[in-house]
Amino acid sequence: MSITKESELIGMKKVSEVVAYTLKEMKNYVKPGMSTKELDDFGASVLKDFGANSAPFMTYKFPGWTCISVNNEFCHGIPSQNKILKEGDLINVDVSAELNGFWSDNGGSFVLGEDINQHQKLIDASKQILHKAIYNIKGGVRISDIGHLIETEAKKRGYKVIKNLTGHGIGRNLHEEPSEIANYKDRFNLKRFKKNSVVAIETFITTTSTYAETLNDGWTMVGNKGGFMAQHEHTIVVTDDKPMILTEMNEIWN
Ligand code: CO
Ligand code: CO
Repeated sequence: MSITKESELIGMKKVSEVVAYTLKEMKNYVKPGMSTKELDDFGASVLKDFGANSAPFMTYKFPGWTCISVNNEFCHGIPSQNKILKEGDLINVDVSAELNGFWSDNGGSFVLGEDINQHQKLIDASKQILHKAIYNIKGGVRISDIGHLIETEAKKRGYKVIKNLTGHGIGRNLHEEPSEIANYKDRFNLKRFKKNSVVAIETFITTTSTYAETLNDGWTMVGNKGGFMAQHEHTIVVTDDKPMILTEMNEIWN
């Protein structure tokens, strides 16, 4: 969406604070031995307290309130009482919601407890790259140039990017124009970021895979060549200068 009046900015700020707070609280709540369903139930209770609705459920009938993906699962993991989290797991939590007709999206990858499987370097790369990408966005910048920056920064650190997952416009729906903010230089995408528009910027940084494939459950995505992925995501408003980061309080950069 494009922000045209104060009430729209207020609505976007409110839903963004809700998804950011929920993500932060879920990260604080999760412990080894907990199932991903227990973690999702906690996230659902936080969202419900604010009167917010799950965006993936409303949009796609996703079987959960939030997406929780573990280890080789890249994204869209279905919360399950049979999936028990362990020390050293690479966890991705993605929280998107609707409140009063406004939609916001954020996510982050982290290690549960001690980093016994050495995932932190991948996570730090994803965080740093998201930060650099966001602070290079302003009105008039080509979307493909940000994709190029993300892929270049990933390669510099010895990582790859996923080509078939993208950031996206957001605001009055979960996914809006511009529908594809890729993590590589898509030379067919001639679109530019527009001042006052709201977009969700997300990284998909991987150890080995370059495509994500859907498992037989119809939701969970894994890599075409296996390995691990880290994702970090903020919803932002594009300006003439530094973007306004609506989901800043998720503290994924801390
Ligand atoms: Co998301
Ligand atoms: Co998103």
